[in-house]
Amino acid sequence: MKTVKTSNEIIKNMTLKEKIGQMTQLPPYLFIHDSEATIYGALRNLNLDKSQTFNAGSILGIGSPDEMIKLQKLYMENSTHNVPLMFMADVIHGYKTIFPVPIALASSFNFDIARVAARVSAKESYLSGIQVVFSPMCDLSRDPRWGRVVEGFGEDVYLTGEMAKAMVEGYTNYGKLGEDSVACCIKHFAGYGAAEGGRDYNTVDLSRLSLYRDYLPAYKKALDAGADLVMTSFNTLDGVPAVVNAFLLKHVLRDKWKSKALTIADYDALNQVIEHGAAKDQVEAAIKGIKAGLDIEMASSVYMNKLENLIKTNQVLESQIDEVVGRILDLKIKLNLFDNPYSGVNPEKEKAVCLSEEHLKYSKECAIESTVLLENNGVLPFNNNTKIALLGPFSKSRAFNGPWSWKGKDDVNSSLEEVLKNQLVFVSDKTKFNDFTEDELTRIKNADVCLVTLGEEAHLSGEAHSRSDISLPNDQDEFFESIKMIARKTVVLVFGGRPLLLSKVKKADALMMCWFLGSKSSEAIYDLLMGIENPSGKLPMSFPRNVGQIPIYYNYLHTGRAYVEGSNNPFVSKYLDVENTPLYPFGYGLSYAKFQYGNLSLSKKELTENDTLKISITVKNESNLVGKEVIQLYIRDYVADIVRPVKELKKIQKVLFMPQESKRIDFELGLDDLSYFDSEGNLCIESGEFSVMVGSSSESYIKEDFMFLLNNGKE
Ligand code: BGC
Repeated sequence: MKTVKTSNEIIKNMTLKEKIGQMTQLPPYLFIHDSEATIYGALRNLNLDKSQTFNAGSILGIGSPDEMIKLQKLYMENSTHNVPLMFMADVIHGYKTIFPVPIALASSFNFDIARVAARVSAKESYLSGIQVVFSPMCDLSRDPRWGRVVEGFGEDVYLTGEMAKAMVEGYTNYGKLGEDSVACCIKHFAGYGAAEGGRDYNTVDLSRLSLYRDYLPAYKKALDAGADLVMTSFNTLDGVPAVVNAFLLKHVLRDKWKSKALTIADYDALNQVIEHGAAKDQVEAAIKGIKAGLDIEMASSVYMNKLENLIKTNQVLESQIDEVVGRILDLKIKLNLFDNPYSGVNPEKEKAVCLSEEHLKYSKECAIESTVLLENNGVLPFNNNTKIALLGPFSKSRAFNGPWSWKGKDDVNSSLEEVLKNQLVFVSDKTKFNDFTEDELTRIKNADVCLVTLGEEAHLSGEAHSRSDISLPNDQDEFFESIKMIARKTVVLVFGGRPLLLSKVKKADALMMCWFLGSKSSEAIYDLLMGIENPSGKLPMSFPRNVGQIPIYYNYLHTGRAYVEGSNNPFVSKYLDVENTPLYPFGYGLSYAKFQYGNLSLSKKELTENDTLKISITVKNESNLVGKEVIQLYIRDYVADIVRPVKELKKIQKVLFMPQESKRIDFELGLDDLSYFDSEGNLCIESGEFSVMVGSSSESYIKEDFMFLLNNGKE
């Protein structure tokens, strides 16, 4: 093993130009012109000469292990220093083995599942020469119009934070970088999910309170779990683009959270500060970036072209650059790159390990847990004699990988037609009812059940894919209603990357939210339909009744004029034309088993700050089926200096039950679980009454009250 120098020693031998280069990330095709990598978005004219290009510190997206080797070799031969490139890529829900999209993984309400998905993705990425993944996305969102809800974990603070944490643990293998793990770059800091109107890249105008309470905790949890980088978001916050926002990058990240994580701009975002109207030119953008604490720019050349002169004219201090470059080099050291610039990459092993049976098995397990059963009047599960007519646009499709699966190949996947072939009496992917012939209609009528596949194709969600209307596309509601008129029974499978409007298809005999489940989507759905597996997913976002209800989320604040069911007072917070409740609430999801909750008990009725509250509940599986249930614990603080949400998820447990099995489930709550953030980001709590609610969704639970007494009640 070579003795690796410290970052300080390395910096001493670097020229100013070389140091500045470390702060830039470029796509591979600037070096090798036949790169297989796909780069999204328009790359501006970078104005870089060859020597500048060969100073770049890192690479965005690499097509294959061979390409990584070729590029690193070329770079080491052509650069004037001995600092290897670091390779980063968008591995979001799998590299070649594709896992359910993040919103689906969140539906598993199972952190082990998310950790496994990340672990497998890390192993595959590592062998292909990727050292840093741009994941997990920690952006909480309450707006299903936003196309990127598919990349996140939904509307809840706790679920988003714990999912992000589990993924960081999986990617990094609990911080063991450089074995078969990768470093994580969490994104998009911060508040990106709150884009006004759900329109991607749009303005974000959040109160500090909401920022600290709802949006920041997940990034913090992911950093505490060991994320090494933070990508800034495209939006403004308080009118300042996040990429040059000193409040976020200095005050919150460095001063409050004491984080040393590297900050990296999102694609071309430093340049776009000019477009925003927050800098007059690249010189100003560079100064603002450095002042705010932006370490690396991605796919733009503001630092490369402007910093040198700014340092020479004393507008930026070289010591500032040295501090940043020191941290960049520290990460490269941590990744063993100075020991071996090709650390990890292995073309033969990559072929053997990617899409291995074991990895595909994990993908299927994740897919099973990520599916949410929304309705079932007993038609599911099917039995081996059920004669199925398979209909709708996804019946013959293999496109279940979803957005951000650039290395995932549809031909690895099976179609539903393939996996269900022994049960099918008819299959068609026609989407217009009038296109069916008389003979086809007869066959549809004669089937025991019509399995209707509906929803959005992958290209309707993801980055820059917001929709103002989130109903099922292409008149699918009408298609379903026509089928329902003639079918004996209907079961609807919905695919998509966001909550959709499902009021019409709710009338089916069974309804399943399948999202995009990845490489083993069809096999997982088959097992669920046939009862080989039991659905156990829950919704990580409220499903609205109509677009006008958005934003709708379970942890809202009580108003001074709250609507109470049954009251006829007109001066309350409500709509004239739609209920206040969502169609399906957060945390909701059915099983073929039936779980009964009872005997909620608390260890104390009065709690002080040094106490722990122990909560127990009995959950019984009243069916003869094996099943998993997500037991959810919410709290409510009735009186505080600021109004607190009507419910806040604080703990979950996903538990396996044997037929007729009854279990006592224990939880604990401490001071941190009961406290809240004020608008300065301080944790606060006052004495007062609380409720604890334990149940199967945010709307179905048993409740008990207790008192919290600060200083034994002597506040
Ligand atoms: C996206 C990021 C992504 C980056 C690099 C951007 O457009 O917002 O999430 O990591 O591109 O591909």
